[in-house]
Amino acid sequence: GILTSGGDAPGMNAAIRAVTRTAIYNGFTVKGILRGYRGLVTNEIVDFHSSSVSNIIQLGGTILKTARCEEFKSVEGRQQAYENLKAAGIDALVVIGGDGSFNGAAKLACETDIKVACIPGTIDNDLNYTDYTLGFDTAVNTVLNAVNNIRDTMSSHDRACIVEVMGRSCGDIALFSAIGGGADAVVTPEKGLDLDALAAQLKQGEKLGKSSNIILLSEGVCSAQSLKEQLAAVTDMTLRTVTLGHVQRGGSPSLRDRLLAARFGVKAIECLIAGKKAVAVGVRNEEIVADDLQKALAYPAADRSELFRVCEILCR
Ligand code: ADP
Ligand code: F6P
Repeated sequence: GILTSGGDAPGMNAAIRAVTRTAIYNGFTVKGILRGYRGLVTNEIVDFHSSSVSNIIQLGGTILKTARCEEFKSVEGRQQAYENLKAAGIDALVVIGGDGSFNGAAKLACETDIKVACIPGTIDNDLNYTDYTLGFDTAVNTVLNAVNNIRDTMSSHDRACIVEVMGRSCGDIALFSAIGGGADAVVTPEKGLDLDALAAQLKQGEKLGKSSNIILLSEGVCSAQSLKEQLAAVTDMTLRTVTLGHVQRGGSPSLRDRLLAARFGVKAIECLIAGKKAVAVGVRNEEIVADDLQKALAYPAADRSELFRVCEILCR
């Protein structure tokens, strides 16, 4: 069985294709579960064939649809899901989602005889055991395209713009976009907001003759509107705000995300064939890895100090 859960991410469809085709290649029958764990609880399970995943590699979103499901957080909800899985003849499940979805999969594997293999699919890049999650690269490229456009108009007017990006409590979208987009400042949950330092940095930029100031703000710190009000109290800059929102979640996956999807999908099925009970596949130093699921969830946060240092130097 295969499902997508939590926030959708570009590359999920390419992963659905890779999982389905690898399973069929190895002689297994595949079922698609609609709407994540909700479809497991409500029994929305359909047959999947090789042709079910034709023509989807390039599509954003998820053809299996996704949802959030409170019932699955309870033992009773998971018991119902287990009964539906058994009735459909499913003995192994591939879950594509973020850390919430991984936690649900870990509980299902612990409480039942279902084997699970998890594939990291979220634009947030907030799963510590893997260098990259599916969808992150595409989302950052979407942010970069937006920043390019925003810069054109901001520099024409000598304005500053706060660009709010997604990421929940993880600042990676903001940090990577700030470096890649040549931003003038970045504000993330990891570093927090130092208003006086930020205002001083922006004023310094003006003195140096910068024609625009682009501030990449992670949603986990505060809203763009809130930061604008705080900055307006301590500077006389002309400020505008852009909240990129769900535009970051859609779109055709980048090559990097398609390659990850293909490699993750093959690895997930190979782990299940090897008899693994609960694994999370990921990528570290360009190599595909498979960790015990509990171990993956307990991984310490990545050290971003070098990237922050690069950003700090280049923002000036
Ligand atoms: P993501 O997987 O993107 O982090 P969520 O945190 O919304 O998204 O989780 C997706 C779904 O995973 C939830 O709606 C719920 O069904 C399931 N889930 C999340 N956390 C748990 C948990 N602690 N125990 C069981 N299921 C969970
Ligand atoms: O987890 C992915 C994500 O896009 C976050 O970056 C964001 O905070 C959240 O989902 C938005 O969720 P929703 O689509 O439910 O508003």
